[in-house]
Amino acid sequence: MTETELRALLVEHAASLFARGFSVGSAGNISVRLPDGYLITPTNSSLGRLDPARISRLDAAFAHVGGDKPSKEVFMHRAFYTARPDAGAVVHLHSTHATAVACLADVDAGNPIPPLTPYFVMRVGRAMPVVHYYRPGDAAMEPAIAAAARDARAVLLANHGPVVSGRTLTDAVYAAEELEEAARLFLLLHGRRTRLLTDGQVDDLLQTFG
Ligand code: 13P
Repeated sequence: MTETELRALLVEHAASLFARGFSVGSAGNISVRLPDGYLITPTNSSLGRLDPARISRLDAAFAHVGGDKPSKEVFMHRAFYTARPDAGAVVHLHSTHATAVACLADVDAGNPIPPLTPYFVMRVGRAMPVVHYYRPGDAAMEPAIAAAARDARAVLLANHGPVVSGRTLTDAVYAAEELEEAARLFLLLHGRRTRLLTDGQVDDLLQTFG
């Protein structure tokens, strides 16, 4: 895809996420890897009303070289790109149910949402750890996220929200959507006897769909 096409796709996905309530106000940010740098949504922009020409452009060292002032969460995105050479895009949302799980005190911090459905496993993977709370925009979150992201396509930032990577922009958006749905199911099922996918079923999904 050309950079112009990627800018248009980013605006389209962001508007769709916003229209469906996956982000509100100016919450959330999205980035895409380019051959020589990155695109990232500008700070304080609404995902519902992005202008493709004003999306921030970073060089390969994550320095701002064009467009509006970039998201204050560049560190969060950089953590994923450096830890995961296969990551082509990163989506950070404050989507309601995933963020609710990120606020729960008594969850398994290594994997708070169990394997409930095939598409959660296929899109998000075997495990999605919780990363300790950091103030939004705090550069200190970068090493903690990078350490967690080496073995996980997505993380939950405690009391803040999900960060999800994908090979492509569309993959990352789809994974963020599946994560939000899995979090909603997890909360809906709270207190009920639940049949989880077995280890064998999870292995089969990951072997078949990668
Ligand atoms: P930015 O507006 O700087 O991208 O920050 C939004 C956000 O979601 C903070 O976590």
